[in-house]
Amino acid sequence: MTDAVTMDTLVSLCKRRGFIFPSSEIYGGLASAWDYGPMGVELKKRIQEFWWRQMTQLNANIVGLDAAIMMHPRVWEASGHVENFTDPLVDCKKCKQRFRADQVPEENMTAHRCPECGGELTDARKFNLMFTTHMGPLEDGSGLIYLRPETAQGIYVNYKNVLQTGRVKIPFGIAQVGKAFRNEITTKNFIFRTCEFEQMEMQFFVHPSEDAKWFAHWKEKRLQFYLDLGVRRSKLRFHPHGPDELAHYAKLAFDIQYEFPFGWKELEGIHNRTDYDLRRHTEFSGKDLSYLDEQTHERYIPYIIETSAGLTRTVLVILSDAYDEEEVEGEKRVVLRFHPRIAPITVGIFPLVKKDGLAELARKLDGELCEEFRTFYDESGAIGRRYRRQDEVGTPYCLTVDYQTKEDGTVTLRHRDSMEQVRVARAEIGPAIRALIKEYRRKGE
Ligand code: GAP
Repeated sequence: MTDAVTMDTLVSLCKRRGFIFPSSEIYGGLASAWDYGPMGVELKKRIQEFWWRQMTQLNANIVGLDAAIMMHPRVWEASGHVENFTDPLVDCKKCKQRFRADQVPEENMTAHRCPECGGELTDARKFNLMFTTHMGPLEDGSGLIYLRPETAQGIYVNYKNVLQTGRVKIPFGIAQVGKAFRNEITTKNFIFRTCEFEQMEMQFFVHPSEDAKWFAHWKEKRLQFYLDLGVRRSKLRFHPHGPDELAHYAKLAFDIQYEFPFGWKELEGIHNRTDYDLRRHTEFSGKDLSYLDEQTHERYIPYIIETSAGLTRTVLVILSDAYDEEEVEGEKRVVLRFHPRIAPITVGIFPLVKKDGLAELARKLDGELCEEFRTFYDESGAIGRRYRRQDEVGTPYCLTVDYQTKEDGTVTLRHRDSMEQVRVARAEIGPAIRALIKEYRRKGE
């Protein structure tokens, strides 16, 4: 086992095995934009589906939403993003590089010296992270709109609609997954920080007196989510926000951090946003967004506990955490130890050889199992190489059809993690794989 995965190793594996490609690569790529290939899109979808299930299906008081990316520009004035969603930037007058002032070493900021070339740095200026575009034919400012920098606001502006139609009562939540856009200046580290990314956000509306209770509840639940995805506990921790880290809307915030190859960094934020957002939208829209408790007749503006996770950033966590190398019979084995519930392929299916009817039997098995599991049929190359290819994309189980299958109907089930092989009767395959997925534990966890 290794714990020393580097970003270069991951980027190259992701390219080689069809997880993630540079955007518009045939034109030289676009900085900090990435495309998800056949394996990557499956992995991302599974993480998203698991989040959606955990949030909406397993919580009767959480409903879903899919709001538009483009919203009325007043939304972003009300939310405080037009005024506050800025990074302080400094430019080097000599090499013309641009830096986030909070990421330049203190001694360079004090001396106004560029950390790269020693040239003179400008004073820090505020730079708004929202992308703008124009709706309609004129670009004169009248149709100016923003690409949403968070999915949360789509939930706040629909809070009343959901309340009136969703048969929900406080406490209740609204969950949403979707794209968000930020004009990030520092976008290194692969898909960690990109200009276009996806968020999985849930806004939980509570009585103001119950904010601490629900904050504690969601903080623990959200950590458990990553453990259920198979992430190692030792790689996760909470980070409380100090007063200078708190976003403009937050009274209290904790990050869930993961130890990436480049250090401990935020993966998800849990925020107590108080009544800030609903109060501001009430003020800016002129619409009453208060809540009436029909039992106590109390009218109030709910507080919001937000759980805000990066979907694309979670993909990077899952890849970093799953990557492992070991030596097997004098050769390096690269294996992605994904939890089977999110692996892009659940079952690899191979005939030992193509001839003597084994390929037909294996294809038939594939046709049956693909109804329930994500399968992949492969008949090319030595069986050992086929296993290794599946190890590299993290397929937890492989089934091989051989001559014994013709005699007694059993197949070989090979486990990715231990490489152990056992014989399983045809009728037992489905139940066996279902049970294995349910009971999966990574070794040492
Ligand atoms: N609605 C609150 C909010 O957006 P945030 O801490 O700015 O809070 C939440 O973002 C999560 O979104 C982060 O923890 C991270 O996972 C993800 N995220 C934010 N900016 C990102 C970026 N530029 N690229 C990829 N993921 C990003």
